[in-house]
Amino acid sequence: MRITCLVDNCVQRGSALWGAHGLSFLIETDGGNVLYDVGPELVVLEHNLRAMGLEGAEIAALALSHGHADHTGALAGALALFPDVPVYANPGLLEPRYSVRGGELQGAGMQDESLVEQLGPRLRASREPQEIVPGVRTTGAVCPRPFPPGISQHHRVRRDGELVQDPYDDDMSLVLEVKDGIALVCGCCHAGLRNTLALLRSQEARPLVAIVGGTHLMNASEAEIEQLVEALRAEGELRLEGAPRLYLNHCTGERALGVLQQAFGEQVVACPAGTVIDLG
Ligand SMILES: [Fe+2]
Ligand SMILES: [Fe+2]
Repeated sequence: MRITCLVDNCVQRGSALWGAHGLSFLIETDGGNVLYDVGPELVVLEHNLRAMGLEGAEIAALALSHGHADHTGALAGALALFPDVPVYANPGLLEPRYSVRGGELQGAGMQDESLVEQLGPRLRASREPQEIVPGVRTTGAVCPRPFPPGISQHHRVRRDGELVQDPYDDDMSLVLEVKDGIALVCGCCHAGLRNTLALLRSQEARPLVAIVGGTHLMNASEAEIEQLVEALRAEGELRLEGAPRLYLNHCTGERALGVLQQAFGEQVVACPAGTVIDLG
């Protein structure tokens, strides 16, 4: 099982990759490859696939962490690039999403209405966990959420004609069965990493080997980050022998990354585009 970060806000130093605010991972398994999120623009995804020699990679399925455009902007192009492959997501993915900045309302989700038609029967949306390929599944809807979610104050959805704070119902992560346990791969983790970990623990007894992706901690209070540190400590010792355990990128935020690195040392690393993680 191997994860490659194809698109992130940052790229590995000296690489020919392009950075873009967004996220995309390639998950390669013996049972088929999964593209988790597609980033904001097809031109970036295609460039980075080519730059990493992965342009010929066969894709068995797409999965989308949530509807925000930095994760789904390249979807129309990706659907054409990988025809006939199913697309796994939570229901609510297609709900119009907005961002309010400086009093101005902007589209922030999958605003292109033709996507509904393009997805058609390819969309496999469920609030229950879904197997994508053997050893790779969705978390399903992340609920309940007893801990703080990963929100941005400017995110909105329309409910009963009113613009309200986005509850991020569509957020989901992926769970990978790897050699020594399970790995969690997040998109933005708007549902909150502690909530996602709590859900995972209600579903799984196997040790957590790694967490990869965006964890939306940039607006988290110091107390919340400290509580996350405790929750991660409760997950036990490093399991991924000789390798880092937390590969964090996108919306994690420098401050949270710093606190986690202070707490867990070399077990925590940044995960720019170009990062390849061998999970065995
Ligand atoms: Fe997001
Ligand atoms: Fe994001």
